[in-house]
Amino acid sequence: MLMTSSLDPIALDAAHVLQVYRRAPVVFESGNGCALYTHDGDRYLDLISGVGVASLGHGHAGLARAIADQAARLLHTSNLFHHPLQAELAAELATLSGLPRAFFCNSGAEAVEACLKFARRFWHAQGTPRAKVVAFDHSFHGRTAGALSVTWDEHYRAPFAPLVPGIVFVSPLDTAAIAAAITSDTAAVIVEPIQGEGGVRPLPAAAAAAIAAGCRRTGALLIADEVQCGLGRTGRAFYSEALGLQPDLMALGKALGAGVPIGAAMFSDRVAAAAKPGDHGSTYGGNLLACRAALVFLHELTANGLMDHVARTGAYLERGLRALASRQPAITAVRGAGLMWGLEIDRPAAAVVDGARERRLLINRTSDTVVRLLPPYVITETEIDEGLPLLEAAIASAVEAPRT
Ligand SMILES: Cc1ncc(COP(=O)(O)O)c(C=O)c1O
Repeated sequence: MLMTSSLDPIALDAAHVLQVYRRAPVVFESGNGCALYTHDGDRYLDLISGVGVASLGHGHAGLARAIADQAARLLHTSNLFHHPLQAELAAELATLSGLPRAFFCNSGAEAVEACLKFARRFWHAQGTPRAKVVAFDHSFHGRTAGALSVTWDEHYRAPFAPLVPGIVFVSPLDTAAIAAAITSDTAAVIVEPIQGEGGVRPLPAAAAAAIAAGCRRTGALLIADEVQCGLGRTGRAFYSEALGLQPDLMALGKALGAGVPIGAAMFSDRVAAAAKPGDHGSTYGGNLLACRAALVFLHELTANGLMDHVARTGAYLERGLRALASRQPAITAVRGAGLMWGLEIDRPAAAVVDGARERRLLINRTSDTVVRLLPPYVITETEIDEGLPLLEAAIASAVEAPRT
């Protein structure tokens, strides 16, 4: 039985939900693959997948069966006891990432928190505590206090100051500044291999080389925040690979549970060796339901060829976006990889997002002028062919509208 209220969900939200989101005035009740449906049966093509989360699309039969089976069997026991799925998931993530140990939590921000804490824990265990963290202009790492402290945008930070001290921001375009910022008191450098919320900006190769050199020179640990760009989103397991980076710690989330909340922090042996029972924890972290969903996702990604599918459809999407940009001068840059793309446009992107939604296409914007696409990994070329003309029409009508 679907439990729906007769009350208007938008009015109820306005009355009772903390107003921290600018939600679009649309209510979805079901989904199938890359399609989302409203109560009235209106179909929308979803090219944002709940901000990179619905990796297997909506209503995935295998995931639904596994979740139902797990719900009937056992959902949660806490981390007071062992269960059969958490260590299995940790082992699979270790194989995929090359980082042998996992801590499970419930979100990307929590994964970042765990990375920041254990970077400090490592230096504390060495007997030479280090607190400084180097982060990057345009970074976004989450909304909890630690993750917010390494998030660049003043707009997110200012209302909550003072944040964690000792954070130094540098431009990813300035290799000399990167080299100067990483010093012998730097505990860690935290980087998104492709910045997501900051405007879909792949880390330049020169910045990656400067980071790797700085970490080698000073011993500073490298934290890769792969929450948005990792886990197959770009057609490879992690985008740090593409940059030749070898992180000591990695933050994961979003796609991992395919819609069931789960985050993970991955650690190298030497960082993990500093961890002692009681150092960190989470009541829900890595429970049976979340681990079961993540195991289904990883099975699809690796054994069932989904990562190759992302690489193929990602290349197809890239060709379509570049062709669109060549016809539409308002698009000043096309950035991304695989199924993670940003179109920089020469005006506020909100009108494009609204225009797309009016055409039953779901996308969003990051920073003010970037239109972002994060489709489900299961998207087909036919669906890309359906979506791109809608996107082009939305851009064309935003361009024709008088600037406000
Ligand atoms: C790179 C990156 N790190 C961390 C986060 C925070 O994840 P969550 O919203 O699951 O806490 C996000 C969310 O957008 C992200 O893109």
